[in-house]
Formats: sequence, structure tokens, C-alpha cells
Amino acid sequence: MAAAALGQIWTRKLLPVPWLLCGPRRYASSNFKATDLQLQMTQKPQKKPDPSDPLVFGKIFTDHMLMVEWNQKEGWGPPRIQPFQNLTLHPACSALHYSLQLFEGMKAFKGSDQQVRLFRPWLNMDRMLRSALRMCLPSFDKGELLECIRRLIEVDKDWVPAGRGTSLYVRPLLMGNEASLGVGSATQALLYVVLCPVGSYFPGDSMTPVSLLADPTFIRAWMGGVGDCKLGGNYGPTVLVQQEAKKKGCEQVLWLYGPDHQLTEVGTMNIFIYWTYEDGVLELVTPPLDGIILPGVVRRSLLDLAQTWGEFRVVERKVTMKEFLRALEEGRVREVFGSGTACQVCPVHRILYEGQQLHIPTMENGPELILRFQKELKEIQYGTKAHEWMLLV
Ligand code: COI
Repeated sequence: MAAAALGQIWTRKLLPVPWLLCGPRRYASSNFKATDLQLQMTQKPQKKPDPSDPLVFGKIFTDHMLMVEWNQKEGWGPPRIQPFQNLTLHPACSALHYSLQLFEGMKAFKGSDQQVRLFRPWLNMDRMLRSALRMCLPSFDKGELLECIRRLIEVDKDWVPAGRGTSLYVRPLLMGNEASLGVGSATQALLYVVLCPVGSYFPGDSMTPVSLLADPTFIRAWMGGVGDCKLGGNYGPTVLVQQEAKKKGCEQVLWLYGPDHQLTEVGTMNIFIYWTYEDGVLELVTPPLDGIILPGVVRRSLLDLAQTWGEFRVVERKVTMKEFLRALEEGRVREVFGSGTACQVCPVHRILYEGQQLHIPTMENGPELILRFQKELKEIQYGTKAHEWMLLV
């Protein structure tokens, strides 16, 4: 009773809307605990990738995975670290039919001291719980899930690649597993976590710039929607738009929004512009978290780093294509880049907008700020610089 009441206070404070949507049932769910972890080691360890081969993003999986099952009657079962294996799903599974699912993405890095560190995983846990509540999927204790993930990485730590620019991508997923075609909240769910040793997300290295198609007929997310949650349903429909971009000679999509064509996100990344604003002040700007922008962990980190440097204005503000075009014409744009867990910081050098090829002088400008962010992030992530953002595995 006391625990359920506590759960209500905590989730209400975090996100009032799903509370209204889902009712109190969600918060009566039991939490799973890392101390109950069951460990089953694989009998058939796989060959690890050759360090000299490039690691293609998301294609290689480690030997183990974390699995936790939930049902409405009994709550969460004990968390298990088990051999990596396929799932068996009922063909009516609600995640498959109605996208009742969400995911996360975070990275663990191996330093030259061989220590493995997770980058700001607390922020991923916060976002994952917010997504879960929005999808009426069961709530969980963020600290307990994080400890289970830490233990999983510990078990597979020999899979964490050691080279610069490489990392272990951690992919948690929570899905409704209702064996019913009725649209409603799930009475069964699966939470699992898989791990992939990865190199760079895009072909080339972290300094290879990308070109963008900005076509306002395609909309990624809208006010009142779920663009601020990390749901598979936000990503699947972008594949077609990505193909359109490719047909037009661009690598990624610049997502515009509203009649004034606000710049919102880039591909699967948040967007940043480093420019001199109309008032003559040098600033770093990114759109605010108004409901359509994903609260990216790297986004937050770039804002935090730039704020501590205190060398230019750091602001979360809407930017329209009109403002951006004017700044380009007046030579005020220095660098444009995307930020995300998979790619970290990715330069942009060209935008195709209303038939016009816009050259962005990111690379001609160093790119000073991008290089500084990349250097600073690497020092923190690989442990050259001790930082409270890192969780030791
Ligand atoms: C990220 O970079 O944060 C992502 O989520 C990318 C992923 C969809 C591959």
C-alpha cells in the first residue's frame, strides 16, 4: 500500500498525462530487483569480431541478454541474464500489431585503463520510464534496471571494443506482449536488453559531413504526438523519407515543422546551429523540448558542456528556415550538426530546400566547435578525464 502510494507520487511528478490516460493500475506493479538476478551463462560463446575489421552498427550481438517478464496479475518476474536467443511471440502480439513498444540507446566505452564506463545512463532510464508511461506499459524502478544492465555489461565486458571511436551500444526494449487483437493496454510485457559492439554509425568517420533533404511535406512528429518519446513507431515511417532523400542525392532528412518550416531534427538526431544571431551575438542554438523534440542525451550533454565553457550564448529556441536562410546569406552561420547516441556529433555541409542546394560552411569553419565537442566527449567517455557523467561497469 505504502509502496503503491509512493509510486503514484513519483510518477505523477514525472509525467501527469499518462497518469490520466492509464489510471492507477500501472503504479501497483511490483518492481523487479537486481538482487534477484538469475544468471545463465552461454554454453556456446561466439567468436568475437576481429579488431581490425570495421564494426557495422547493430549487426553483431554479444553472448548474453537481459530479460524480464511482466504480467498484470503477478507483476515483474525475476530479471534474468541469459544466453542471447530469439524470442517466441504469439502472432497477435500487441507490439507487432499496434506498436505497443519503446526502446532506448546508450553506449559503454572501454578506456585505455580497460575500465568500461556507461555514458549518462540515468538520463536514458528517465526517458525510458517516461516512454513506458506514455505507452501504458508497466513502470519499473530505474535504479534496479540500470543495475541489471550494468551486470549484463559486466558479464559481456570482453565484447566491449577498445579502439577509439568504438563502443558497446546498449539497446533496452520494452514491449506489450498481449496475445489479443483488441486495442488496449497490455496485460503482459517483455523488457529486454541486447548489446552490440559498434564503430561509427554512418559510413566514413565522425568527421564525414552529411547532406540533408528538407521537404516540409514529410513530418516526423507533431504537437500533442509522441515525438518526445523513444518509440519504434517514430522511426519506421522515416525509412521511406530517407529513401526519398537518397533519390535526391542527400544522405539524411532535415525534419521541418509547421507553416514557418521550423528546423526540428536531423535523421535520428537532434540539430544544433552555431551562428551569430540577428542581435549580433554568437550562439549555439537547438530547438526547445516543446513536445516534438526527442530529449537526446548527447543533446543535453552538448548544452551542458557549452554552458560550462561560458564562451558564447547557449539557447534553446525555435529556428525557422526563413531565419536560417537569412543567416546563411549574411554569412552568419558557422556550423550545423546533428547529435545522437549512435553518431555522437555529426557535421552537416549541404541542405536541399525548395529546389535550392544550400551550402553550409561547417567544414570550412574548422569545424571548430564540432571538433571541440568530439574531443571533450571522448575524454569523458574513454575516462581520460574523470567525470560524474560516467557510470563505472
Ligand atoms: C540515437 O542515435 O540516439 C539513436 O537512437 C539511433 C538509433 C535509432 C539507431
